[in-house]
Amino acid sequence: MHIQALGYLGFGSVDLDGWSDFATSLLGMQAVEKGNTSRAFRMDDQAQRLIIDRDLADGQRYIGWEVADAPTLASLAARLEQGGVFVTQEPAALADRRAVAGLISFADPLGNRLEAFHGAARTDLPFIPGRAISGFRTGPLGMGHVVITVERLDAALPFYRDILGFGVSDIMERPFGAAFFHVNPRQHSFAMLETGSNGMHHFMVELCALDDIGQGYDLALGDGTEKDPNRVMATLGRHTNDWMTSFYMRSPAGFQVEYGWGGRAIDPATWTPQRLEAGPSMWGHERAWLPPEAKAEARAMRLKAGASGLRRPLQVMGGSYGLTPGTSAWWDTVAEDRTDHG
Ligand SMILES: [Fe+2]
Repeated sequence: MHIQALGYLGFGSVDLDGWSDFATSLLGMQAVEKGNTSRAFRMDDQAQRLIIDRDLADGQRYIGWEVADAPTLASLAARLEQGGVFVTQEPAALADRRAVAGLISFADPLGNRLEAFHGAARTDLPFIPGRAISGFRTGPLGMGHVVITVERLDAALPFYRDILGFGVSDIMERPFGAAFFHVNPRQHSFAMLETGSNGMHHFMVELCALDDIGQGYDLALGDGTEKDPNRVMATLGRHTNDWMTSFYMRSPAGFQVEYGWGGRAIDPATWTPQRLEAGPSMWGHERAWLPPEAKAEARAMRLKAGASGLRRPLQVMGGSYGLTPGTSAWWDTVAEDRTDHG
């Protein structure tokens, strides 16, 4: 596999100030100086992760996929061309704007602009979060994940799986069709939801502490306009596939941002594609955007998951937890089967 992580995301918007506010005060990213026509935001030691570009039309976007080095980028370009995909070698000026050493661009079968790069610029300046979060979980797992909507899954699935070489994590049919893909141990770095139209659904960033999520949830609940008082698009919940505890909020561009904690790591070498029979969430994630029938079906699936005792172990990072002593003989019998989930 050539691609190793989701490196950056760029969106066209004239609302640079709205985005700055959202990305710093709510998400906790750090704004970096970029001049008048764009804003960039840091999440870690990479020079930029999220870029908002006024020169790009609203609704336009680019997804930046990272490869290891220049030879790998050349090899990816060759593979794409063999697959009949038109590849543009981007000039140094654009690579500079993306803060990378080498850059190519191409489109998926739906016309989404994808970029692949190597050599992301890093900075020694400490990351200063826009609000008091513990930090973002990135590194080899990349920036997070990005999810697009598609008219039909089969129009783009072969491209991502067979040409780009993404590993299929899961396929879901109900309450809506979806396909999830991995490029590293993050359970999915990319997904497509079958909603009947092609567009942007959400991107996800993962925080290091559960409290970052809860405190962000408080902020999002009280952050909206008079007409639309609530930024929250899906309530707090936990996913069946990546085990992420998260909620979803509306971004200034209208698409959503998932704010998550506690995602699992998989082994891409041994993973086999799963069928998500229980739906996307084992609890929560009441989705404001779903049509009424799908919303009711999603709720029925969650209640069924709850009734069947569906649960998954928490995924915690070193230094972020304490083990509590066992207190009941009953728990010992429940805990015995805790390792064979998923
Ligand atoms: Fe997500």
